[in-house]
Amino acid sequence: YFCGLRGAMFTPIKPSTPFDMAQQDDHLKRVIGHAKEYGFVFPSSDIYDGLSAAYDYGQLGVELKNNIKSYWWTAMVRMHENIVGLDASIFMHPTTWKASGHVDAFNDPLIDNKDSKKRYRADVLIEDHIGKIEAKIAKDVAKASKKFGDAFDEAQFRETNGNCVRRQAEIDGINERFKTAMNAEDLDAVKQLIVDLGIKDPETGSANWTDVRQFNLMFKTELGAVSGDAGVIYLRPETAQGIFVNFLNVQKSGRMKLPFGIAQIGKAFRNEIIARQFIFRMREFEQMEMQFFVPPGDQGKWYEYWKEARIQWHKSLGLGEGSYRFHDHIKMAHYADAACDIEFNFPMGFKELEGIHSRTDFDLNAHEEHSGKKLRYYDPEREESYVPYVIETSIGLDRMFLAVLSSALRNETLADGSERVVMSIPSALAPVKVAVLPLLKKDGLPEKAREVMDRLKLDHSVQYDEKDAIGRRYRRQDAIGTPLCVTIDHDTLDDQAVTLRDRDTMEQIRVPISELSSRVAERVGWSTLFS
Ligand code: GAP
Repeated sequence: YFCGLRGAMFTPIKPSTPFDMAQQDDHLKRVIGHAKEYGFVFPSSDIYDGLSAAYDYGQLGVELKNNIKSYWWTAMVRMHENIVGLDASIFMHPTTWKASGHVDAFNDPLIDNKDSKKRYRADVLIEDHIGKIEAKIAKDVAKASKKFGDAFDEAQFRETNGNCVRRQAEIDGINERFKTAMNAEDLDAVKQLIVDLGIKDPETGSANWTDVRQFNLMFKTELGAVSGDAGVIYLRPETAQGIFVNFLNVQKSGRMKLPFGIAQIGKAFRNEIIARQFIFRMREFEQMEMQFFVPPGDQGKWYEYWKEARIQWHKSLGLGEGSYRFHDHIKMAHYADAACDIEFNFPMGFKELEGIHSRTDFDLNAHEEHSGKKLRYYDPEREESYVPYVIETSIGLDRMFLAVLSSALRNETLADGSERVVMSIPSALAPVKVAVLPLLKKDGLPEKAREVMDRLKLDHSVQYDEKDAIGRRYRRQDAIGTPLCVTIDHDTLDDQAVTLRDRDTMEQIRVPISELSSRVAERVGWSTLFS
């Protein structure tokens, strides 16, 4: 977090890849509409017209979310003997946030438009302005690529074409001015940059701006009956601090030896100035974080280990090799000695999905200082006590959910010219693994189907459906991403076999009921990801 704009340090603004904006918007809208129609995600308090940046996960959404959590937990905790879990409380002693730096520096630069009364993040206004220039470059590149065909060398074009060179220089200039202003904490210079760039309120076109000021993103509330400053307490803005303050509790009670990790999944809260793009940026969201404690000096090696382990975790899902890229932070916060993001190609372009940070001994040292308690580890090999260094991996569960949903949803034209909407959710993550469908609602088929379902539901999440023609039922299951459909027909009563239909290939095979469980497990089990 402090590696970006929040806090004093700065990472240059890097606009997302300039795909066709209209296409991106369309796909995001489709995802939002589909998510609501099928019970994945609803706006919070929908009957009251929703609450900005708050969402509820519906009956299928909660299953998908739980499966993503399981995939992460299994990979981090079960697959690593030296990583254990934790579930710390959301409320923490307020000094925690003083020590971590959040009270003083967990800020975003904010600007209001005096006419529209709308509030914006100054950095986002500038980022969007840069995005528009990037889009112009992309348009020129696309035009030239069409003109020159196979002979087109994009890199050379970007370096030599007059318009591209001028526009890139403009972007670099803006980034440089912004970086200088933020590093100097000169908010007047940030405002001047907005004015000089002619940036207007995106909704109303007004350029009547207030000054830029810092806005702390933590939600405050009061503890019990204590009033005033003494009772101020915060909703945690990250789960990580719950891990740091429990470092010794876990190390001692679990007799953990360095290197070891503590993993946690839980809610975090940030009063984002603008929260947008569906569940990408919310005010209440969930994080899956792991702090890996290592001896000082070993952090470089472990940073590289976790970069590789985390990208493999993502790629094993099969959402597309080209859907990920690393974004190394060029300039780090004062306590970090290396940091990068794993970016995903969301409908809005490449954006941060996960952060990997080498946080040195900053947090444990800060908590030692503020609590007066030693947070040290006695290393029997080195025969000394020290404050461990930390590598952090931190991923937003809701962003991961959006990554899965947006890459899974597509329209397909079939060989017979008909269309289907299908969600190719990685099968181990699918909310419903198997649909059990009696061909007809009579002749003992529903009873047989229930019998089959009762066996499968012990191991898998199963849905029963007997309404409508079988083709329509298949389409409904495709639309929610169910990898397998089991159809019970009249022959089933004689041969004790069913038709097994695959979501992706739409192939149908006949399978004896006695083999069904193992066939399903092969197709949807965790080993499909971990092997
Ligand atoms: N402990 C480190 C930390 O919190 P961060 O980059 O601020 O770092 C980690 O957040 C991850 O949490 C991000 O990569 C992102 O996936 C997710 N995240 C952060 N803010 C979010 C928000 N407002 N809505 C949804 N997810 C968010």
